[in-house]
This record gives sequence, structure tokens and C-alpha cells, in this order.
Amino acid sequence: MLAHAWVEEARAGFEQALAAKLGKFGGPSDALNQAMAYGLLEGGKRLRALLVLASGHAVGTPMQALTDAACAIEAMHAYSLVHDDLPCMDNDTLRRGKPTCHVQHGEAFALLAGDALQTTAFQWLAESACASPGILLEQIKVLARASGLHGMAAGQAIDLAHVGKSMSLADLKHMHARKTGDLIAASVRLGYLSNPAAKAEDLANLEVFAKVLGLAYQTIDDILDVESTSEMLGKTSGKDALNNKPTMVSLMGMPAAKALLEDLRCQAFEACEALNAERNGPLLALAELITNRKS
Ligand code: IPE
Ligand code: IPE
Ligand code: MG
Ligand code: MG
Ligand code: MG
Repeated sequence: MLAHAWVEEARAGFEQALAAKLGKFGGPSDALNQAMAYGLLEGGKRLRALLVLASGHAVGTPMQALTDAACAIEAMHAYSLVHDDLPCMDNDTLRRGKPTCHVQHGEAFALLAGDALQTTAFQWLAESACASPGILLEQIKVLARASGLHGMAAGQAIDLAHVGKSMSLADLKHMHARKTGDLIAASVRLGYLSNPAAKAEDLANLEVFAKVLGLAYQTIDDILDVESTSEMLGKTSGKDALNNKPTMVSLMGMPAAKALLEDLRCQAFEACEALNAERNGPLLALAELITNRKS
């Protein structure tokens, strides 16, 4: 059964935990602290954090044991957004309903805030008292691999290299898998890793779930960029066409992109339903939220 109430409660609890954690974490530069807080707190949907908590729940781990990993993935994601918006990348001025970090704090501080958010993600995991050193090391590896040269940063590089260029659908899916899918998959994997006794067949199902959900996530992002408004999105709509980006919509056309999304939604539900029926409700709710998201 879809556990929407669980998700909403977890989201509220997470938001508080994240703000408290960052509040205690401040460094010697107020300007940097503020730029980081601006990029990290308020306005995000927290779907990656919720995926960590929900996949941990699916393998029987209590939420408190996953908070640091959930904070870490959101710090990594926030860094990716702060840098994604920079003038040298997507050149965006609106994010989460507010001026982008570089508009508010200047380019140099947005760059530094992104850098520090990225290292903060690893520090929060490495210093976590939530899990054993063995689990934390595995989680650090997963986060590193998903974020850098083999993951999100590579996806962003492929994205920038294809501005105004054509791309095959297979290449576009590969780009989206690196750009967005790898952090989504890492979120799910961080949750799974929290229980060393979790079953291998759960991992197989969670991996299918994460893979299809990751592609769905960027597919709907591409659809909303065309169909939604800046007010709804909290970020400027119509930017992909303006920046000449190859997207699922520009390549497949809107009806086919929507049909693909529907197909991915079904696949995500199927993978999720193969998990323990008493513990898969939060993941089912997230699959529904993500594939129906309007912002
Ligand atoms: C936006 O991510 C960037 C993509 C990878 C599509 P989200 O839509 O999850 O952004 P927030 O965290 O809710 O602002
Ligand atoms: C960004 O993709 C993915 C990241 C790694 C941040 P987009 O460029 O499509 O994200 P938005 O639309 O600006 O949120
Ligand atoms: Mg981008
Ligand atoms: Mg962008
Ligand atoms: Mg987008």
C-alpha cells in the first residue's frame, strides 16, 4: 500500500534534521556558510533523501540510522544544482522559487558553496555515528562513484558537450542515467547498504527500481520544462529549448516521452512490489510522487 503519510512525516523530520545539522556545522566564513545554507535549505522536494529513508525502511532500517546518509545525498544534490545554474553551465536565475545561488551570493561564492557542499556530503557520511565504519565506507564509495567522473559530473559534461547537437536516443538515455540516474540509484543503494543482512534479491529489485525511476525522473523534468510554468516549477521553464539542449522531449516528441514515462512508472511499481509487502509502502509512494510530480 502506498504510504504517503509516512513520506510526508519523513520529509518534515528530515527538513528539520538537515537544518539543525547544517546549523551546527558552520565554518569560519559567514559568507560561505550563508551561501551553502542558501543552496541547501528550503524549497527542495527532498526526493533523494526520502529514497534513502524509504529504501532503508524496505530492508528494515529505522529512519534515525539513515539521517546522515540522507543529509549527505541532499548536500551532494544541492551542490550539483548550484553549479548547474552557474552562467558557465545552464545560466539560470531561478531555483526553488528563489534567485539562484550565484545571483544572490555572487559567482565566486556559489562556486565555493558548491565545492563545500560536495565535501560536506562526504564529511557527514565519514563522521556519522549512525552506522558502522564498514557500512559507512561502502556508502562513501557509492556516493563518490555516483557523483564524479563515472556519474553525475560525467553526465553534466556530456550534456554541455551536446548543446545544439543531435544525439541518438540511446546516447541521451546514457547521458540522463549519468546526470540524474546515478544519484537516484545511489540514494536507493545507501538505504539498502544500511542493513548488511539485507537479501541480495532485494538489492536486485531495488536496482531495477532505481534505474527506471532515475530515467523517469529526468524524463519528467524534460516534460515539465516544456509544459509547466516557472511559478509551478520554481525554476525557469522553457530553458532546455532556449539553451538548445537535447532532451527526451526534443528527441522523442511529447507523446512518446509521456508514453515512456508511463511505461517506466509501471516498471518501477513492479520492481517495488517484489519487495517485502509490509515495508515497501514508502517506496511505492515515492514512485508515484516522482512519476506524477508537477514541480
Ligand atoms: C532537479 O532535481 C534536477 C534534476 C536532476 C532533474 P529536483 O527536481 O529533485 O530538485 P529539488 O531538489 O526538488 O529542487
Ligand atoms: C540537471 O539537469 C542535473 C544535475 C546534475 C543538476 P537539468 O539542468 O535539467 O536540471 P534543472 O532543470 O536545471 O533543474
Ligand atoms: Mg543542466
Ligand atoms: Mg539546469
Ligand atoms: Mg531540467
